Amino acid sequence: MVLRIGHRGAMGYAPENTLLSFRKTLELRCDMIEFDVRLCRSGELIVFHDDTLERTTNGAGQVSEQTLEFLRTLDAGCGEKIPLFQEALEVIAGKARVDVELKGPGTALQTASLIDRFLTQGGWSRGHFLVSSFDCQELSAFRRLDPYTPVGILCENIPVGFFGMARSLGAYSLNISYNGVTPELVDHIHREGMKVLVWTVDSPDGIARAKGMGVDGIISNFPDRV
Ligand code: G3P
Ligand code: CA
Repeated sequence: MVLRIGHRGAMGYAPENTLLSFRKTLELRCDMIEFDVRLCRSGELIVFHDDTLERTTNGAGQVSEQTLEFLRTLDAGCGEKIPLFQEALEVIAGKARVDVELKGPGTALQTASLIDRFLTQGGWSRGHFLVSSFDCQELSAFRRLDPYTPVGILCENIPVGFFGMARSLGAYSLNISYNGVTPELVDHIHREGMKVLVWTVDSPDGIARAKGMGVDGIISNFPDRV
């Protein structure tokens, strides 16, 4: 079965990367929930996609220049607050797998320590977690801190030296843009022992084509369509 993965929660139905969006994704009974984490100025790991606040909140400016106290005053859509990473995990509570996308340097350390904390607390197993990033340096930093949690390399197309990097990270998956995927590539990645997750696919035709290529998971804003 192809994994049904909600993008930034289920952003086709609720404001992206909010607890409301994660609750909606659980309601849709998805297999996995993708969301983005980044650091703010006061050092907490928050769930937020962009570098800047304008597109998804009523604030303005760089996220990295704002404290958590200020960020919590903003409306992230439908009255939702920007969540902390740990709050996302508390709401999801091991009822779906998570794909935690590291956005930016310095995110690996807290991600590794929070995963460790939730594994110890119960309700979560190692297989619930996938840590992904376009930033292979941050993924390598994560791998040094946590040798066991599955990691996924995000890319638009296959870069030169990709498979060497994937092997050295022991990557679980290649999370590739739908525009860069072909049936031959899916076969090649499978022969390398990795899963193929594609993003972001919303149209019925695109979903059918991705399934026809044999991908292992589809990341969608409307994950119930997968
Ligand atoms: O993880 C897939 C996808 O989320 C990567 O792109 O820009 O939506 O974070 P972006
Ligand atoms: Ca993402």
